[in-house]
Order: sequence, then structure tokens, then C-alpha cells
Amino acid sequence: MQRKGIILAGGSGTRLYPVTIAVSKQLLPIYDKPMIYYPISVLMLAGIKEIAIITTPHDQEQFQRLLGDGSQFGVTFDYIVQASPDGLAQAYLLAEKFLDGAPSAMVLGDNIFFGNGLAQMLANASAKSDQGTVYGYWVANPERYGVVDFDEAGKAKSIIEKPEKPASNYALTGLYFLPGDAPERAAKVQASPRGELEITTLLEMYLHDGLLQVDLMGRGYAWLDTGTHSSLLEASEFVRTLEDRQAVQIGCLEEIGYNNGWISSEALLEAAEKMGKSNYGNYINQIAQSARTRR
Ligand code: G1P
Repeated sequence: MQRKGIILAGGSGTRLYPVTIAVSKQLLPIYDKPMIYYPISVLMLAGIKEIAIITTPHDQEQFQRLLGDGSQFGVTFDYIVQASPDGLAQAYLLAEKFLDGAPSAMVLGDNIFFGNGLAQMLANASAKSDQGTVYGYWVANPERYGVVDFDEAGKAKSIIEKPEKPASNYALTGLYFLPGDAPERAAKVQASPRGELEITTLLEMYLHDGLLQVDLMGRGYAWLDTGTHSSLLEASEFVRTLEDRQAVQIGCLEEIGYNNGWISSEALLEAAEKMGKSNYGNYINQIAQSARTRR
């Protein structure tokens, strides 16, 4: 069964108030494109074509206005509402019908990943359909995240959500490859003391059954946080620096769709036209032109 994707873009974003009072956090710009483009690009790089986007009820319309049905990128988007943000594991309950037994990759709508070997790393995880894969990333402030504890042999032995005394500096990134039974298992997750269905509780179930691999995302990768005003600005600067220096776009969904063979060069031209005089539009136009001369 083909792996399907989930992007969790709900949440109230109160840590970014007043910026997120009227606009969903995942629609805020990271330099030159909306934040949600970056997690969508991760799923597309993993070869995933069917993607569900989970939003709050009042933000759904804006996501639909931005992203439509996905055909412009060669994918399909389903939109699912999360009436109240009751924890990340809830996403699997909401997406149960959409997944229909398929293995999944879920990425949090505010997580940005970048790195040279990313596509290969994602392909490795995607190929394993009966076990889960998640990623540990060394950070300076692990207490803000889910934290992985390893035994002497380097095998993950527990995952704890926002521990006061973190057992390691390895934070769990917001990218989760799970087998087809994730909704079934998520239904067994009990709410934590803060009232949430924690993703870490679900992951612990897989870990306990020997069905979860925790890979490390090494220093060649960037995993960027967008949780504070400062980190939002830093993420924008990171994208700007790389894009300006190398004249490439990070998270250009039309480019990935084209490289994956999901859309034609004619579709690229059409998309470029819609983007007006923006750099993003010029970039897509260039790819379309060089595709034409190559033929
Ligand atoms: C969530 C997860 C946490 C994970 C983090 C990654 O936390 O609960 O385990 O490390 O995302 O971004 P949140 O940032 O939603 O509090």
C-alpha cells in the first residue's frame, strides 16, 4: 500500500501572539514562501503523493485558497479539521479514514528540514512499511521537545515529552514515519496530565514492541524551529542565505513535482505565469525553459 502523508497545521499559535491572532502560524512567511511549503516539500521528497492537511476549522479556507487540490504540484490534498488541538497523536484518529490502513509520514506544519541527503534518508524510512522511523537531533535546549534516551549500545530506550531533566540532548523532530496501524494504536493513547494525546506516548508503544527505529539526523542537516519570533526570523534568514548564495529555491513544490515526474514542463510554465513577477515565479519559469531546451 502506498504511504500517505499528513501535515498537522492546527494549533492556536499563542506563543507568537499577536502575529497569529488573525493568521495561522503555518501560513506565516519563511522568507519568500508560506511556512507550510517546507513540510509539504519534505513529504513530496519522500515520494508521497496523497497528503492530508489538518487545520483548525477557521483556518481551513485559507489553506485551501493557497494550496487548492494539489494538482498544480502533482499531488492530492485532502483537508481535515481539528476542532480542538488535543495533541499530536489525535492527528491519526482524525486521519483514520483518509489513511485507510496505509502507512504514513506525518510532519508538523511548523518544522523545516534541509540537508543534502534528505531525499535518500526519507526514502530509507519510507521503504520500511511495518516499522516506524523517527529522528533524533542534537539541540542545545532539549527540554522544549520530546527527548530520546539511548542505552549503551545506542539503542533508543525511551522517549519523554518535555522532560524537566532531559536524559540526552537528542530532541525528537516533528517527522514521523509510522506503519498502517497508527490510528488503531492512537486510539489507545491516554491523555497526559496536560490533557493532550501525546505523540511520544504513541511512539513509546512502538518502541516497546521493537517496532520503532530512532535514526539520528546528523550535523549535515538543518532542523529549524519556528516556535518563537526570534527563531522565525532565523529560519527566514537561513533560507534567504542559501537561496541567494546558490540561486536555488528551498521548498519549491512545482520543482519537486516536476523532478518526480508528476507534472509536465507545460504545467511549470502555467504555474510560473500565476506567480507573477515574483522570484519564485521566475525560478519556476527558468526550470521550465531549461526543460524545454533539454528536449
Ligand atoms: C511537538 C512534540 C515534540 C517534538 C516537537 C518537534 O512539540 O510534542 O515531541 O519534539 O513537536 O517540533 P510542540 O513543539 O508542539 O510543543
